[in-house]
Amino acid sequence: MNLVILGAPGSGKGTQAARIAEQGKIQHVSTGDLLRDAVAKQSPIGKQVESIMAAGKLVSDGIVLQLIRETLTDSDERGKWNGWILDGYPRNLSQAEALEGVLKDVGETVEGVVYIELDPDVIVERLSNRRTCASCKAVYHLVSKPPAVEGKCDSCGGELYLRDDDKPETIRKRLEVYDNETLPILGLYEKRYRVHRVDGSKPIDDVTTDITRLISL
Ligand code: AP5
Repeated sequence: MNLVILGAPGSGKGTQAARIAEQGKIQHVSTGDLLRDAVAKQSPIGKQVESIMAAGKLVSDGIVLQLIRETLTDSDERGKWNGWILDGYPRNLSQAEALEGVLKDVGETVEGVVYIELDPDVIVERLSNRRTCASCKAVYHLVSKPPAVEGKCDSCGGELYLRDDDKPETIRKRLEVYDNETLPILGLYEKRYRVHRVDGSKPIDDVTTDITRLISL
């Protein structure tokens, strides 16, 4: 099954995409993770995007399209999975059209869209309390999903850190970018695909249950 998960920063896309991917043996494709990897490795792309991401702005469409194209056309990878779930892509209308081009080339299509709805006040609280594993990228929340040992990842023991773009002033910028650039995709996708709306304010397990029921996983 090929899915796109949409929602504001901090609405729970990454958390839910990881769970859906595991349950359905689907490839989790997060452009945010791909870009953060590039920054951590200080690759040419990483050096180019580091300050843009830290400021909460969107990286250029061309760079992200390159990453998406490489991932979705990798036939070895594709053979391992029952489809993919895109998390963080597309991010504007031109990326939505570019995605159609990539999918046409590989003879695939978007088969379902999940849209997580969440109040902006909750988003700020969630992102300020998010901690991410520097090693395996597992995501925690200091209140709703704390690690067993403070500052350490439960899965791999890696160090937990506060993302550069999870500081309050950057969160505000990201929400503004989301409203202006990303939200219009919802209207487009409602005309084009089946969009499943879910209430992101429920506990993590309940949101997963709602999504798996809606997409019949
Ligand atoms: P990206 O990494 O995609 O970030 P985002 O979309 O801003 O989303 P987040 O990762 O912040 O949040 P999320 O919705 O995944 O929430 P999470 O599950 O972690 O992008 C980062 C940057 O990269 C962008 O700003 C841009 O610069 C660049 N970029 C990426 N893609 C791009 C593209 N296509 N084009 C251009 N630039 C691009 O949850 C948040 C917290 O809440 C966690 O602590 C979690 O534990 C907790 N939580 C989750 N669900 C619940 C729940 N139900 N109840 C309680 N707590 C919960």
